[in-house]
Amino acid sequence: MSTETANAGTGAAGSADGERTYSVDNPAPVIAPPRARTGKTPKATRGNFEMHTWLFMRLSGIVLVVLVLGHLLIQLVLDGGVTKIGFAFVAGRWASPFWQVWDLLMLWLAMLHGANGLRTVVNDYAERDNTRFWLKMLLYTATVFTVLLGTLVIFTFDPNIR
Ligand code: HEM
Repeated sequence: MSTETANAGTGAAGSADGERTYSVDNPAPVIAPPRARTGKTPKATRGNFEMHTWLFMRLSGIVLVVLVLGHLLIQLVLDGGVTKIGFAFVAGRWASPFWQVWDLLMLWLAMLHGANGLRTVVNDYAERDNTRFWLKMLLYTATVFTVLLGTLVIFTFDPNIR
């Protein structure tokens, strides 16, 4: 292959051994960056939020398996099954900080896990900006309401209420 053919299309003058020799008189071609920043480009285009929520779904899922299966086993299988559940049973369990923390963790993890899962579903399927926005507002409102109300109930439950 001749030197002429080897350098075809590069715009560079070739030396005898085929090396490119750019100089002030023969500058290298400027290649445009694939994603040039414009005036409209936000300052930070990369964040780690989605990576953290992805990880949270996996980790909370693992913890939920233990919490939920343990919960179902105690409530529905052991000790007479579902027939034992009543006000006295709940009062007895929430007298113990261990079960308060168990239920609190289950509430928070299930709500945050479920809400984040639904956030993904809404982002994936709701096509109009407005629809996505309002569905997520509804989701966040319901989540905050349920988490706060549940937490309040776990800690203010009064077994002597009449
Ligand atoms: C019991 C153990 C659970 C495990 C191991 C688990 C695991 C997971 C994992 C790994 C994902 C992510 C899937 C993906 O990104 O493709 C996910 C998504 C989801 N989870 Fe759970 N989860 C559990 C319980 C729950 C509970 C209690 C709820 C509801 C409160 C829930 C609601 C959701 C929803 C709505 C999604 C999104 C579904 C989607 O993207 O299509 N999960 N789950």
